[in-house]
Amino acid sequence: MYYTKVNQDSCIACGLCQIIAPDLFDYTSDGLALTKMDNNAGTLPVPAERFDTFLDAYRKCPTGAILRSDRPFPPAEQ
Ligand code: F3S
Repeated sequence: MYYTKVNQDSCIACGLCQIIAPDLFDYTSDGLALTKMDNNAGTLPVPAERFDTFLDAYRKCPTGAILRSDRPFPPAEQ
C-alpha cells in the first residue's frame, strides 16, 4: 500500500503528474501539485487500481517532488 503527497517546495508546476494521473493529482491556484484524495495530507492510501498510474507519475516527476511512503504521512508542521 502506498501513501503519497507532493513536496510543494520542490514542485516546479510542470503539470506532468496531473496529465499522467488526473484522478490522483490536481493543482493549487499557483499551479503546484497536490493529491486530490486527501488534499495533500498523504493520509489516505492510493487505491490499488491507481497504483500503475501513480508509479508512472512518481517516476516521471522531473524534480522528485512526489513523495511515497508505505505508511501515512505525519501531519504537516505549521
Ligand atoms: Fe510538480 Fe512534479 Fe507534478 S514538478 S506538477 S509534482 S510532476
